[in-house]
Amino acid sequence: VDIVFASRHDKHPEDWVRALQQALPGDSVRLWRDGAPGGGARVAVVWAPPQALFTQEPGLEYLFNLGAGVDALLRMDLPPRLRIVRMEDAGMADQMAEYALYYLLDESRGFSQYAEQQKQARWHRLGAMQREEWPVGVMGAGHIGARVAGLFAALDYPVAVWSRSGRAVPGAESFGGAQALPAFLARTRVLVNVLPLTDETQGILCGRTFEQLQPGAYLINMARGGHLVESDLLAALESGQLRGAALDAFTREPLPASHPFWAHPRIRLTPHIAGVSLMGQTVRQIAGKIQSLARGEAVSGVVDLSRQY
Ligand code: GLV
Repeated sequence: VDIVFASRHDKHPEDWVRALQQALPGDSVRLWRDGAPGGGARVAVVWAPPQALFTQEPGLEYLFNLGAGVDALLRMDLPPRLRIVRMEDAGMADQMAEYALYYLLDESRGFSQYAEQQKQARWHRLGAMQREEWPVGVMGAGHIGARVAGLFAALDYPVAVWSRSGRAVPGAESFGGAQALPAFLARTRVLVNVLPLTDETQGILCGRTFEQLQPGAYLINMARGGHLVESDLLAALESGQLRGAALDAFTREPLPASHPFWAHPRIRLTPHIAGVSLMGQTVRQIAGKIQSLARGEAVSGVVDLSRQY
């Protein structure tokens, strides 16, 4: 198979090409270059590919996305028969579970507050933390949501998972569909979002959602900026309905320096690093699927365009 690699964000695309070629010695892997001769590729491995890829490589059948989220890809003008395969976990889920745990502990154990106290040489004990008082609600029941929920469940937090289908996740109570959302939110103090961004989930982190959470709730958004209604977050922090938020993804990235989130005392933010796909695991997963397809076998992670993930 002729495989082309195209990423506009990667600083070292040659490393990916080399790793893919090593994993697929019987195939040919090359770096896509604008205007360079090509045309024979059946498979592309991409992250934020240029639109020109699709005119220059009209024979593409499969597009492997280096990330879990395909929202940006689906907004492009894609050839009709192209099938998109997204990353499933590939090292991301563990990192995202850690990310959520870090910010939950920061809030529940008062670590930020202790850091402030240290600056003033102030010895002052906050109350003890009771896990039952920190019910975690995870939005998204895929590989990532299940891992996040599983970590909190293993630590004996009350955990619930909400998803479109209500898929069961071991150790967690599951809620499915719009009609179950109010009950899910009402029992949640720490809301963790790992949903795919679709027409249905766009703006789901809004004032209406925040007001149904336990008072003084905490938001952790590790998915996409488009899930969050920014002005509603600021209002909920202002009113105290939310005590804080940890945000990793934004509508505009890099987040403009003038954005109010940067300086907000109750917002912690990171530059889209909650879950980074690790090269070794990513290449193994993609190479395995390319080999399965070549044997005529079905693979998991194929995007259902009607669901948008
Ligand atoms: C990162 O945001 C991803 O979609 O993998």
